[in-house]
Amino acid sequence: EATKAKCPFDNTPADFDMFEGPYQVDPAEALRWSRDREPVFYSPKLGYWIVSRYEDVKAVFRNNDVFSPSIALEKMTPNSPEANAVLEKYDYGMNRTLVNEDEPAHMERRRVLLHSFLPEELAHHEEMVRKVTRQYVDRFVDRGEVDLVEDMLWEVPLIIALNFLGVPEEDMDRLREYSIAHTVNTWGRPTLDEQIGVAEAVGKFWQFSGEVLEKMRKNPNGHGWMDYSIRKQKELPEVVTDSYLHSMMMAGIVAAHETTANASANAFKLLLENRALWESICANPALIPNAIEECLRFSGSFVAWRRRAIKPAVVGGVDIPEGAKLLIVMASANHDERHFENPDELDIYRDNTTDHLTFGYGSHQCLGKNLARMEMRIFFEELTKRLPHMELVPNQKFEYLPNTSVRGPDNLWVRWDPSKNPERTNP
Ligand code: HEM
Repeated sequence: EATKAKCPFDNTPADFDMFEGPYQVDPAEALRWSRDREPVFYSPKLGYWIVSRYEDVKAVFRNNDVFSPSIALEKMTPNSPEANAVLEKYDYGMNRTLVNEDEPAHMERRRVLLHSFLPEELAHHEEMVRKVTRQYVDRFVDRGEVDLVEDMLWEVPLIIALNFLGVPEEDMDRLREYSIAHTVNTWGRPTLDEQIGVAEAVGKFWQFSGEVLEKMRKNPNGHGWMDYSIRKQKELPEVVTDSYLHSMMMAGIVAAHETTANASANAFKLLLENRALWESICANPALIPNAIEECLRFSGSFVAWRRRAIKPAVVGGVDIPEGAKLLIVMASANHDERHFENPDELDIYRDNTTDHLTFGYGSHQCLGKNLARMEMRIFFEELTKRLPHMELVPNQKFEYLPNTSVRGPDNLWVRWDPSKNPERTNP
């Protein structure tokens, strides 16, 4: 009866579930009990040790000798034999990239390939980012209502990602389908039936990545990161292997685009929900970078990441056996009051907001973080200038793809009165 109804946030290790319920609604809030009472616990449903406090999550990220990143892109839910047969049909062979490579191979490769991420290299892309962003805003600026995800925040990061990688622009809808399949394949819990469709899309994505790679190999003279990587393979074939290039072509498309698309949608949603803050950044665009950082802390697009203990270890005073899998929840760490004062308040002036763990930490920390920051800054600069009067369409329901790690709303409807667009009176 009603009095016995369980409080949705009164969770325990035994019934903690990441694919439905509170974690899908608000991952940080869903682990409050854990941060307070049991910051490192084993979840029998998942087969993972969950780590929820800031210091512990950071300590795991920091220690690659004990906590290997090799399982970072493993499937959360093992495939059925039928789904595996579909993947085999496509010769699916996603293997080590950077993010799931152990030392010393990882650092050697990262050093060889990080050139494209240096600030002076990223600066070359800024004009392209601004141009593509403006083109997309031009299309809807007079419309009065738009789904920002559908009409801008999904596709613009994809175009930028392809440009950054040096991949010719492709069928965007197909790549969107592939990326979502990759996310479900890696971090979701598809049913047996769904697994077949997901495997088909992932298999096709793998094949497509191989074809693009072969095309690019014929003339790898462009400025893209993949062109650069192909050229480096000629000098250092043992460091930049064939398997790496094929795997990174696929993983790179996802890493460079879906992450930023979701982070941008989360950030616009948050700042529009906090109208006074939105108005502050419209009035003073110099506040945008720290506001973005605070949104990455408050509601990041990667909410959890994985490591495997390759030796017996201790995390937060808890013994972790050798071989154990860990799910380190950045969303929870980022709301830990032991590190962030009033963590549940969105504070765009917060001085330690860049301590957030949304980009990971240590030797694997996101290589693309400054590209993502630049994109997001330009999206905010353009939209605060051209549509400062936009607001969230009231009473919309936000849906999220059920999975452990990738988070952003499927749609984000906003509206405004086009007759009040600043560029009409002050072009
Ligand atoms: C690694 C998040 C955008 C490329 C990572 C990791 C996270 C992450 C959590 C793993 C960190 C670790 O293990 O310590 C994000 C988020 C993004 C974003 C939240 C957007 C807001 C990008 C972009 C690129 C990119 C735009 C561009 C190509 C990479 C690469 C790695 C990585 C190459 C592997 C680095 C290594 O292992 O050495 N990212 N990322 N990311 N990310 Fe990102």
